[in-house]
Amino acid sequence: MKLILLGAPGAGKGTQAEILCRELSIPTISTGNILRAAIKNGTPTGLKAKSYMDAGQLVPDDVIIGIVTERLAEDDCKNGYILDGVPRTIAQAAALEKAGITFDDVISIEISDETIMERMSGRRVCESCGASYHMVAVPPKQEGVCDKCGGKLVQRKDDAPETVKARLEVYHKETEPLKDFYAQRGLLKPVENQPSVEETSRAILHALGR
Ligand code: AP5
Ligand code: ZN
Repeated sequence: MKLILLGAPGAGKGTQAEILCRELSIPTISTGNILRAAIKNGTPTGLKAKSYMDAGQLVPDDVIIGIVTERLAEDDCKNGYILDGVPRTIAQAAALEKAGITFDDVISIEISDETIMERMSGRRVCESCGASYHMVAVPPKQEGVCDKCGGKLVQRKDDAPETVKARLEVYHKETEPLKDFYAQRGLLKPVENQPSVEETSRAILHALGR
């Protein structure tokens, strides 16, 4: 299965991608995670991306298209993949289409800006492995410590309220038009955010006919 997860910043794309990756046994490609790893490792891509990400703006399309087409050419993507956080502009979607990269379904997680603003203040991420938690909805077993690797949980720099507002503006302007783009191709499946992670997973799997 070849899948795109669309949704506002903090809609739960990363959380759901991790679950779907296990359920469907296909890899997840998250441009956000790839870029954060590049920044951590000080690579040329990371140096280029950092100022955009810190400001809540999109990294230039050519950087993203290069990352994704390279990653999708790897062996483990032969039987399917989940794209988390990409494409994010019409130009990115058109470039993937032009490169012959196809999709079976596009899930759009629908959630209000108010819920996002509330939710982002509670998000904590592992500084070692990138795993995502929420202080109330998805708490770690031990406060401040990652369940998976024992790493320290920190707040993402771009989760400051002003930056979240900027990211939401960018989402509505640049990314939301992708819903029409994929609806025209008969691929769009909107799924309402649910109060819990598990209920949202069930709604997504149901939309995928599973
Ligand atoms: P990226 O990392 O992709 O960030 P994002 O899209 O803003 O999404 P997030 O990772 O913030 O949220 P999410 O939807 O994955 O939610 P999560 O599962 O964590 O991108 C970061 C930056 O990189 C961009 O701003 C841009 O600069 C750059 N970039 C990346 N891709 C790009 C591209 N293609 N083009 C250009 N630039 C790009 O969940 C959020 C919180 O809610 C967590 O705490 C979670 O535990 C909790 N939660 C999840 N589901 C539920 C639920 N149902 N109920 C209650 N709590 C829940
Ligand atoms: Zn960890």
